[in-house]
Amino acid sequence: MSPYFPFNGEPYSPAMGIKPLDLIEWFQPDASLAQDLDEKRAILATAPHLALAVVAEPALAAETSKATVELLRLVIENLTRYHPLHYALDPQGIRIRASRHTVQVPDANSECDAGTLLRRIAGIVQEDVCLLSPNRPARLAAGLVCFPSRWNIAGKVGLDASAIHETVPGFAQTLAQPTTSFLDRLTPERSFARLNWTIHDSALRFAPHSVAGRADLTPENVLGETFLRIERQTLRRLPATGFIVFTIRTYIDRLEGLVADPDRRERLRRTLDSMPDDAVAYKGMATFIAPLRRALAGRG
Ligand code: HEM
Repeated sequence: MSPYFPFNGEPYSPAMGIKPLDLIEWFQPDASLAQDLDEKRAILATAPHLALAVVAEPALAAETSKATVELLRLVIENLTRYHPLHYALDPQGIRIRASRHTVQVPDANSECDAGTLLRRIAGIVQEDVCLLSPNRPARLAAGLVCFPSRWNIAGKVGLDASAIHETVPGFAQTLAQPTTSFLDRLTPERSFARLNWTIHDSALRFAPHSVAGRADLTPENVLGETFLRIERQTLRRLPATGFIVFTIRTYIDRLEGLVADPDRRERLRRTLDSMPDDAVAYKGMATFIAPLRRALAGRG
């Protein structure tokens, strides 16, 4: 279950919500590790074009490969240092204890391309990983995202933060400038984390396209058929190449269990009641927001 329930009963208001990150918490391996890595492997086997993309510009692609070598080495160092229950170094590379797989460590001058290296990282951590270029404005240079929430990496690669978020209602007016300036000022010394949330009418974690939404949900069944989807994101600037690493950890839980506690139910209700229609539509909740509001209010 997600360790997060980011509702305090305040009206809906998307925010930067940036918190300092201790690198012990860069990754959050848990009991689902082996299962999540299997799911990623299956997605990469069947739909690699929707899950993995590297910018086409040759110079930036070459820089991105170097950044991905730096990233893989830092990932391995971090995991073996802070998460020895889940990972161990062995002569071939890093061993994932739960799955008994070993992933090879590249040497510092490795010639591997970014896509190959991102696949290796995807075989180690539950998080999805993107890399943004070091120059201003930072642009999405590559990413391997197996658990997207109704977008896909191929549609976003090459874009800066303002263009990536063009589809998000109100982003241009309120969050675009603070986000760009946050990315500009990010240094290797201080990393950060933030949360996004949405509610889906399916537990599918690989959701690369927007969908119409289910029309069969009622106040009676909606809590059992909808899922809170929390994205725990981290942002870290790599010390050597200056690229920004953006990780996304996706937690999905059925609403019914999450709102069994009346206090949580009330806090979620207040936030959902105050959501404007454009935000409801953007999150793909338009077809079930009415029954959901009624169910949370205890009105069947
Ligand atoms: C401080 C930095 C950031 C902030 C404040 C931020 C904020 C947001 C917000 C509020 C949303 C809408 C979520 C929702 O309502 O469901 C969103 C969506 C998204 N964000 Fe960010 N974000 C940040 C950084 C990034 C970065 C670095 C990337 C790079 C990949 C990124 C990629 C996305 C994508 C792909 C979406 C979905 C857009 C769509 O639906 O078309 N974000 N972000």
